[in-house]
Amino acid sequence: MQNFHYYNPTRVVFGQGAIAKLSELTPRDGKVLLLYGGGSILRNGVHAQVTAALNDHDLREFGGVEPNPSLAVCLRATAVCRAENVAFILAVGGGSVIDAAKFIAAAACFEGDDPWRICTSGGRAIKAMLPLGVVLTLPATGSESNSGAVISHTDKQEKRAFGSPLAFPRFAILDPTATVSLPAKQVRNGIVDAFVHVCEQYVTSYTAAPLPDRLAEAILQTLVERGPVTLAAPGDYAARADLMWSATLALNSLIGMGVPHDWATHMIGHELTALYGLDHAETLAVVLPGVWRDQLERKQAKLAQLGRRVFNVDGADAAIAAVEAFFHALDMPTRLGHYGIDAGEAAARIAERFTARKTMLGEHRDIAPDAVRTIVAAR
Ligand code: NZQ
Ligand code: ZN
Repeated sequence: MQNFHYYNPTRVVFGQGAIAKLSELTPRDGKVLLLYGGGSILRNGVHAQVTAALNDHDLREFGGVEPNPSLAVCLRATAVCRAENVAFILAVGGGSVIDAAKFIAAAACFEGDDPWRICTSGGRAIKAMLPLGVVLTLPATGSESNSGAVISHTDKQEKRAFGSPLAFPRFAILDPTATVSLPAKQVRNGIVDAFVHVCEQYVTSYTAAPLPDRLAEAILQTLVERGPVTLAAPGDYAARADLMWSATLALNSLIGMGVPHDWATHMIGHELTALYGLDHAETLAVVLPGVWRDQLERKQAKLAQLGRRVFNVDGADAAIAAVEAFFHALDMPTRLGHYGIDAGEAAARIAERFTARKTMLGEHRDIAPDAVRTIVAAR
C-alpha cells in the first residue's frame, strides 16, 4: 500500500456565473477539445455558456460519452485528439465525462500497443498526459478535482480504475445552477456516492486522526442535512451549493491525507456495474453495509463514532442501521434482490474475477476473494 498521498492542486472556481471564467482559464496556445456526454448540456444551456466563453478559442467538440464511459468511445475521441493535434481537453459533464477526459488525455500520449493497459496497470503505464479542465454538471464523484478515473471495457464486461498524479484537472468550474436540470435519481446517486467516498476514508480501523475525522464528519453531516433538501426543493440554490461543494471535498484528497483508505465497497461495486449495469451509487448502497458487517470488529470504534457524531445513535450496529435508513429515505435500495439479481450468483462471479486478478481489498489489503464472496452473498 502506498504510504503517501498527493494533495490536490486543481484550481476550483465556485459560484453562479463561474462558467464565464473559462475564457481566462482555458489555454489559447492550441486546439481545445470540448468533451461531453449524451446531450444534457445542449438542453440546459451549459453548452451555450461554454461556447460563448470560448468564442475566441480554437474549439473542437466530441459528444456521446456514456455513463460508465466505454473504452471504445474513449478511443474514438483519442483518435480525434491525435488527428487534430488537440492541446487541451475540456470536460463538461459529470464523472463519466471527466473520467473519459482523463483516459483520453493519457491515451493521446500513450506509446504502447494497448491503451487498455492504462487501466489494467492502475495508471502506472501513464508517462505523460494532455492537460485538462472541467465544467462540472453533476456533484457526485469528485473526479473534477482528483486524480482517478474509471473506464469500462464493454466487450470484456470489465470496469477498471486508474490514477495518476498527472490526472488532476488544471481547473474545475463549479456553478450550482448547472445542476438544476438533474433528474432526482442522479441527485440521489450523487448524495450516496459522496457519502460513501467519505466513509471509505473514515470508517477504517485507524483511530488516531482527529483532524481528518472532524473534516469527514462535517461533510457527512452536511450531506445528511442538505442532500434531502436538494431533492425536496430542486430550486434551493444554497442547498445545491452545499451538496456540490460537499461532493468535491469528499474525494479531492482533503480528508484522506495521511490516513488509511478502504475502497473495498467501491471495488466490489465496480464489478456489480460491469456485470449487471447498476448505477455506480446503487452498487455502493448495496455493498457498504455488507463490508461493514463483515469487518465489524475492526471498524467498531469508527462506526460507533460515526453513529454518535453524525446520527446521534449509540454503537456500531445502530450506526449501520442509521446509514441504511438514510439511504432508504433517499429512495436508494440496499439489497440486490431489488434489482432482481441473485446474490449467490453475483458473489460467485465476483469472487472468481478477484481470484484471477489476485485482488486483496480493505485498508489492510487482507479481504480475500472468499471474504468478498461471503459479503456479496449476504446482500
Ligand atoms: O450524458 P449526459 O446527457 O450529460 O447525461 C448525464 C448522464 O446520463 C446526466 N447529467 C449529468 N449532468 C446533468 C445530467 N442531466 C441533467 N442535467 C445535468 N446537469 O447524468 C447521467 C449520469 O452522469 P454520469 O457522469 O455517469 O454520473 P456520475 O457523475 O455519477 O459519474 C459516474 C461515473 O464516475 C465513476 C463511476 O464509476 C461512474 O463510471 N466514478 C469516478 C470516480 C473518480 N473519478 O474519482 C470516483 C467514483 O467513485 C466513481 O467510481
Ligand atoms: Zn464513488
